[in-house]
Amino acid sequence: MALLQNHIAVVTGAGGGIGRAIALGYAREGARVAALDIDPAAASETAKQIKGAGGKADGFALDVSNRADCNAIAKRIADEIGRVSILVNNAGITRRSGIGGDAETVAREWDDIIGVNLNGVFNVTHAFLAPLRASKGRIVNLGSIQSFVHVRTPSSPAYTASKHGVLGFTRALAAELGKDGVRVNAIGPGLIETAINANARANHPEMIKTFIDHTPLGRAGQPEDIVGPAIFLASDLSAYVTGSIVMADGGYRTV
Ligand SMILES: NC(=O)c1ccc[n+]([C@@H]2O[C@H](COP(=O)([O-])OP(=O)(O)OC[C@H]3O[C@@H](n4cnc5c(N)ncnc54)[C@H](O)[C@@H]3O)[C@@H](O)[C@H]2O)c1
Repeated sequence: MALLQNHIAVVTGAGGGIGRAIALGYAREGARVAALDIDPAAASETAKQIKGAGGKADGFALDVSNRADCNAIAKRIADEIGRVSILVNNAGITRRSGIGGDAETVAREWDDIIGVNLNGVFNVTHAFLAPLRASKGRIVNLGSIQSFVHVRTPSSPAYTASKHGVLGFTRALAAELGKDGVRVNAIGPGLIETAINANARANHPEMIKTFIDHTPLGRAGQPEDIVGPAIFLASDLSAYVTGSIVMADGGYRTV
């Protein structure tokens, strides 16, 4: 029996990387998937791949930083697809300049990153709260090693702050929504090879080496490495798990 049969899952940032892998994985487990992405063609491509593999999916354009659009898409999905029971807040962006750069750039990056990585998680969660409550749903948020520490490689304070915020929001929601039967957890990926770090991988091999040298499993992760934890947290396998973060980081945080 598939693990996510009869579920409707919304995945943000599902047009590529980890989000697409989770969307495909959920569909393999029987969920009907709404793939949301700021890039509508990428969202449609994910839905096409799912349908090509025999699954059920639709692609929608959504910028998670736009609160009104989040509310509108929640209404549209309720009308056109049905009651959402799984939400994956995956959309995220990063920048790699520290606090000491050009003042205007640093301030813009702060606004952009907090707007997507933290406000976006609130916007989408709030928009889908009613169906998630009604279905005793499951929320899975994408945290990071940077939910705990600022990494050894160039990164932005805004990214670290946003991912600490995602973990805090995960715990707060788990506490508030537990009585409704809604479970809220996070996944903390290590270095996963996706577009978000393509430039660093191409142009800063020393940065990648620092990361891998610090990773007990000795390799970078692939988007597929996040799919198992994401299925676990969305399925009844994790029926008594809430407010947790599952680290999928090759052991990075243990050393
Ligand atoms: N790749 C890693 O090493 C890594 C590590 C830790 C955490 N994460 C987190 O995992 C999540 C997915 O990252 P990824 O590596 O797959 O990145 P990615 O860049 O490959 O994919 C991100 C997707 O989000 C979409 N997106 C960007 N801004 C958006 C917005 N405003 N609204 C809707 N969609 C938007 C992009 O179009 C893209 O399809 C992010 O939250 C990221 O912070 C990634």
